[in-house]
Amino acid sequence: MKVIRTIQEMQEIVKQLKQNQKKVGFVPTMGYLHEGHTALIDQARNNNDIVIMSIFVNPLQFGPNEDFDKYPRDEMHDKQIAEDHGVDYLFLPTVDEMYPDQMGISMTATDRVNVLCGKSRPGHFSGVITVLTKLFHITQADDVYFGNKDAQQVAVVDQLISNLNFPVTLHMIPTVRESDGLAKSSRNVYLNGKERSEAVYLYHSLCLAQQKIFDGEKNPAIIVNEVKKYIQSNTSGTIDYVEILTFPTLQPIEEINQQFIIAVAVQFDKARLIDNFMMSADGKIDHIAL
Ligand code: PAJ
Repeated sequence: MKVIRTIQEMQEIVKQLKQNQKKVGFVPTMGYLHEGHTALIDQARNNNDIVIMSIFVNPLQFGPNEDFDKYPRDEMHDKQIAEDHGVDYLFLPTVDEMYPDQMGISMTATDRVNVLCGKSRPGHFSGVITVLTKLFHITQADDVYFGNKDAQQVAVVDQLISNLNFPVTLHMIPTVRESDGLAKSSRNVYLNGKERSEAVYLYHSLCLAQQKIFDGEKNPAIIVNEVKKYIQSNTSGTIDYVEILTFPTLQPIEEINQQFIIAVAVQFDKARLIDNFMMSADGKIDHIAL
């Protein structure tokens, strides 16, 4: 595995790869890698000749009171994991390398961002699409890999790719969980012992929603209410949202009669956790095609 720190070097390598007609898979991350990230790498490895992974904690997608400075970082550990999973090129730019000057062009996500995390983190997805535009250009990837765990991110990236005609195929990989069901996340390290044992109730709350649907409940408002009550009585966290929406268009629905996503976000003391299930109208977990 080769570690690349400059855009120029990455671009020179990509040019060679393209001349040699290599199919390039790209996995963008912010590092502190876990099995959620490696599931993306493994899929990219299966589908492509070459796998590029980036690790870049992107300041543009963090709000002023968010955890940019405290975001967990461990370059040595990440390099080892990337190497073990067969990454060919690990792109590790600094903030100065990616943003040497103040940007003279700004990108704003306007659709699919007025709900869920976009509502509570204004500007977050604009920062995400800006960095991904740069990374897609730098890597010239054929295939890009994103996790279902960040479902709204997938919806916004889907829009970015189609609106700006990026010649890439978006792949969405199922959420990887701890053995008790908690979705793996770099931010789980912020949880104290008590919060860690409560955090699993996010997953259980989604299972409860699924059970309601199996039992015949069709009213999203009733399910949302039940889920909120369940999270409130089982955790010390503060609910940011519980929403049932279409995917990937993220529109509200009046009745559960189509594929949908139920998504939750809960703020604990130092960690804000998110999770979701994508389901068909009968409550079966579904991989919704983009
Ligand atoms: P990061 O949070 O590091 O996540 C990188 C990728 O890993 C994302 O596509 C995310 O959905 C996926 N991922 C995280 N946890 C997962 C899990 N438990 N199961 C499956 N996939 C999981 O998302 C970002 O970084 C950034 O916003 C980025 C896209 C890199 C842009 O800066």
